[in-house]
Amino acid sequence: MPNSDWFVHDRFGLFIHWGIYSAAARHEWVKNREMISDEDYQKYFDHFDPDLYDPSTWAQAAKDAGMKYFVVTSKHHDGFCLWDSALTDYKATNTPAGRDLLGPMMQAFRTEGFKVGFYHSLLDWHHPEFPVDGLHPMRENMAFREAAKNRDISKYADYLHGQTRELLTQFGKIDVMWFDFSYSNRGWGWSQGKGKDDWRSQELMAMVRELQPGILVNDRLEIGGDFVTPEQYQPAGAMMVDGKPVLWEACQTLNGSWGYHRDNLDWKSVDMLVKMIIDSVSKGGNVLLNVGPNARGEFEPRALDSLRGIGEWMRLHGRSIYGCGSSEFTPPADARFTQNGDRLYLHLFNWPFGHVHLPGMGHRVEYAQLLNDASEIGMTVIGAEQAAQNTTMGALGEDTLTLSLPVHRPDVSVPVVELFLKS
Ligand code: GLC
Repeated sequence: MPNSDWFVHDRFGLFIHWGIYSAAARHEWVKNREMISDEDYQKYFDHFDPDLYDPSTWAQAAKDAGMKYFVVTSKHHDGFCLWDSALTDYKATNTPAGRDLLGPMMQAFRTEGFKVGFYHSLLDWHHPEFPVDGLHPMRENMAFREAAKNRDISKYADYLHGQTRELLTQFGKIDVMWFDFSYSNRGWGWSQGKGKDDWRSQELMAMVRELQPGILVNDRLEIGGDFVTPEQYQPAGAMMVDGKPVLWEACQTLNGSWGYHRDNLDWKSVDMLVKMIIDSVSKGGNVLLNVGPNARGEFEPRALDSLRGIGEWMRLHGRSIYGCGSSEFTPPADARFTQNGDRLYLHLFNWPFGHVHLPGMGHRVEYAQLLNDASEIGMTVIGAEQAAQNTTMGALGEDTLTLSLPVHRPDVSVPVVELFLKS
């Protein structure tokens, strides 16, 4: 039975996209975007030498950012594998790196108490039996397509299943399996996208559950999963499948690219990243925030700055995220509620002048404080008969709780008022 208790508690994880595309440093889809042949792409394999790689520094930076679990790309769409797979030569051990890069990483994160997971690509633009389709880098090379026309997807699926078995039997307990992605609904006339029949998804899922009974599997095998994965957008509300709320995890980037992208300047601010985490939890979801390490094996300074900034907020406000979820109460404008039992957290995205009013909560709160410094926040319930006069506010509607805020906004990414609910 999949164990989702930790997932719902921990809420915030690290996604890592790392591979030989990090040397190209132009997005993890560079082989597709630039239609690069295997021959031309080989230079990244031949020069992949992450000499500064020390996964314990990654784990420490993620821990300090308040992250509790991590998911790393064992293999991305270009087919390059970070571990010493017995089923291919297209792996880290055959590059100047000359060793398995995945084992030490799993160890380093486990040492810091992280739950661990693999992102494994269903696509493979290097495998000789993966049929060419409209996403393949060689899609416009007619001679290549002709030579590849007898490729056998079932042999590729055998490979996919074989490597999945390696990952789930050689690296200890795995908590998350993140497959990516199915696209059978896409067609290019001369070819059709791939999905559950191509991957033999039911069989794959059964094997995954047999090998790792408690594992959580995402929703990209085209047969459902344990959690859904909105990508690079913030859901408007709780995620639903067939009208029922489901576990979800928004996967997000720091700058729009998953793989290291040297010239990308589209970096999100720390405040925006913190608000994305709060927004997700307020809607009952998680955030898996990505870092693309560079080809020296390091998190770049801009990524470390983002993680550090988030960490400063999480250090003071973590309890308004961990173990929290959506609330029965409706927040005021420009704010979010997260709740954990009798603790309700009001996250103020916009700092109002003097007061914030909470309709319907006049009799529900016994104490209020700013979370960053535990300083008391004044509470009043204005009587229904009170008329407005000069500095005196008039009635605000049935049972409205009014909080008095200092003029100066606390110097944190998002100020939070912790409300202690009456039992
Ligand atoms: C998308 C991207 C892929 C990335 C994944 C992560 O599918 O195309 O490169 O790995 O999202 O969510």
